[in-house]
Amino acid sequence: MLSKNRLTHLIQSARKAKSFSQAKYSNFNVGAALETSEGEIFTGCNIESSSYGLTICAERVALTKALSEGKLNFRRMAIVGPNNDFCPPCGACRQLLYDYAADLVIILTDGKNIEQFPLAELLPHAFEETKLRKK
Ligand code: THU
Repeated sequence: MLSKNRLTHLIQSARKAKSFSQAKYSNFNVGAALETSEGEIFTGCNIESSSYGLTICAERVALTKALSEGKLNFRRMAIVGPNNDFCPPCGACRQLLYDYAADLVIILTDGKNIEQFPLAELLPHAFEETKLRKK
């Protein structure tokens, strides 16, 4: 378990990323901060499109930023939404995060309380790489 300070720092990083959110269609601003096993932090915010389906969630922005810089091992991700409410990751993000970081811990906060969930608990019976292999 890492220190409370580092946890607060990760949440603060997600909050800062949220301030860059491009969410003019939904006004639902989200920020995410992904911590690598070495303690490096990659942030992301949601980026919306006028063609709504092209919207990218904050979590996937953070993950793809990290992957595209060669980072492959991750510890935890903090996610913050627009309201004083927990903002759990959507199903698509759960899947992509699981594909690259099955052991990830997801950190949510409503501004007062902090909750931590193993990603695997948020995606039971996950589809995964081994299912693609022919028997
Ligand atoms: N959104 C995220 O960025 N992450 C989530 O886990 C849930 C939803 C974004 C997508 C869209 O821009 C807005 O929130 C409303 O769905």
